[in-house]
Amino acid sequence: MEKCRISFLPEKVQVTVEPGVTLMMAAAEAGVEFEGPCGGRGVCGKCKMNIIEGETTGQVLACQYKVSGDLVVEIPRQEVYLNRKTALTEGDWEIETDPGISKLKLQVEPPSLDNQKSDADRLLQALNRPAKLRLDALRALPQALRAEGHAVTVVLAGDEVLAVEAGDRVKQGLYGLAVDIGTTTVVGSLVELTGGKTVAAASAGNTQNIFGADVISRIQHAAKGPKELEQLRRRVVQVINRLSEKLAVSAGIAPREFYQAAIVCNTTMHHLLLGLDPRYLAPAPFIPVVTEMVEIEAREAGLGIHPHAPVYVLPNVAGYVGADTVGVIVSTGLYNVNKSVLAVDIGTNGEIVLALPGRLLTCSTAAGPAFEGAQIKCGMRAQAGAIEKVKIEDKVSYEVIGDVAPKGICGSGIMDAIAEMFRVGVLESNGRLATGERASHLPESIRERIQGTGPQASFILATAEETGGDPVYLTQKDVREVQLAKGAIRAGIEVLLEHGGVSPADLDEVLLAGAFGSYIDKNSALGMGLLPMVPPEKIRAVGNAAGAGAKLALLSRKARQQAVEAARKAEHVELSTWPQFQEAFIRFLNF
Ligand code: FES
Repeated sequence: MEKCRISFLPEKVQVTVEPGVTLMMAAAEAGVEFEGPCGGRGVCGKCKMNIIEGETTGQVLACQYKVSGDLVVEIPRQEVYLNRKTALTEGDWEIETDPGISKLKLQVEPPSLDNQKSDADRLLQALNRPAKLRLDALRALPQALRAEGHAVTVVLAGDEVLAVEAGDRVKQGLYGLAVDIGTTTVVGSLVELTGGKTVAAASAGNTQNIFGADVISRIQHAAKGPKELEQLRRRVVQVINRLSEKLAVSAGIAPREFYQAAIVCNTTMHHLLLGLDPRYLAPAPFIPVVTEMVEIEAREAGLGIHPHAPVYVLPNVAGYVGADTVGVIVSTGLYNVNKSVLAVDIGTNGEIVLALPGRLLTCSTAAGPAFEGAQIKCGMRAQAGAIEKVKIEDKVSYEVIGDVAPKGICGSGIMDAIAEMFRVGVLESNGRLATGERASHLPESIRERIQGTGPQASFILATAEETGGDPVYLTQKDVREVQLAKGAIRAGIEVLLEHGGVSPADLDEVLLAGAFGSYIDKNSALGMGLLPMVPPEKIRAVGNAAGAGAKLALLSRKARQQAVEAARKAEHVELSTWPQFQEAFIRFLNF
């Protein structure tokens, strides 16, 4: 059979594929950017594309549609969201910034017949210290010197001049990029490096998700060969570059003016970003290529910021405890405590840290992306239109981000909804939605929101009337996804406590981290059994602590050193070798 030529708009990219290939894989082959949150299983309905020319026309699910002829396809634009108040913009600490990079204003002596020294020599004379000029800086030097009477600003990293800009640009500030690459979501933060202020933050879906929603499917794809590994690498780099562009626009500068970056991510994302073969992470004994901090130049990673900008990819602890956990440890000060603190970072993987005097224990559980709104029927990221808080009394009330009609539900809303549904009896302790007779104890106003029966049952949070479109609801299947996620995290906590020889009563503090960590209601987390029973006043939501760790590493050499030490000091507890984990997982599936 003849090959099919597929053209993707608006990027105008073409690719030729064998008939029978899905539209999603054709788009992946073409390198165009879009998401498939359920990993192409055909259940999330979020990979819609528009066929405008071809054997059929109209909207299709790209992961399900198999091509059989030439097509012209339009991909709906996928947004980068400038976050309303992303946790990364919060907590601008009072820290002594020491990013290891600086901007200096120099007045360089003009050349003359008496001083025929080269531009570079005269610049170094004004700098008054030995330094090496990068080729890019040399290229910019002659024009920069002569544009504003030989007044220039140099960007200095260690003993290297990365860039030369005309005139006094010190007041414009010195910018860097902090990135938290999650399996589901990528968050970027633009930080002014001298004052430490976060100028803007933005997030976007991790478009690697077309190859699977979890790290194992991504590893499996990458293991097929170098081309597949490159597909994954390119996709995450595209997302970071798009975030950089959005952040740069919001600050009125160019991405090239980001002169440093720090990145946190789980170990799989780390390997995929760096193009390292992740295949030995998947089977026991789960071996990473490297755990030490990787320091590279932006251009080596393909990042669209200043090509020579130093990029610090924070160290990993183990195959499933990555730099993101190290970020949590650094930003919350857990690398050195004299009390007992439990920290839970909720993402697609749930990483848990138990800090005890002189000890740091870590483990990781495969929670799945339910708490990030993925694989949930009406799930969405925390952006305008997402229900973020839910309360159920005689009626259902909720808060929506952005003061608009609800469109879906995000992680904190899901957790609230489940905790409330369980509290009032819409959910039974085994996670079954109460239908028919079993719902007779509920007020009519709540009972009428329970639709369908058995696996088809669902609970309406926002009616079609309230949304002005489709209702927002949680299905029985959504509840099961949340049960799996919370069962895994809670079982991980139990094993770690046991390993550390402490009980919940011994804990001085419990930190709840995650991209939506600031918005989690601690009573909901307790109510649904995600956390062990501790007094609510001991629980503190610390927001995106992993991303905050990236920000600190961007701003401070000391923080980078702490990250290196924390990764070396951390003991990793391999849950798969603990039979108690499986027992606890089954026990904690129930609410
Ligand atoms: S339905 Fe296609 S990726 Fe989810």
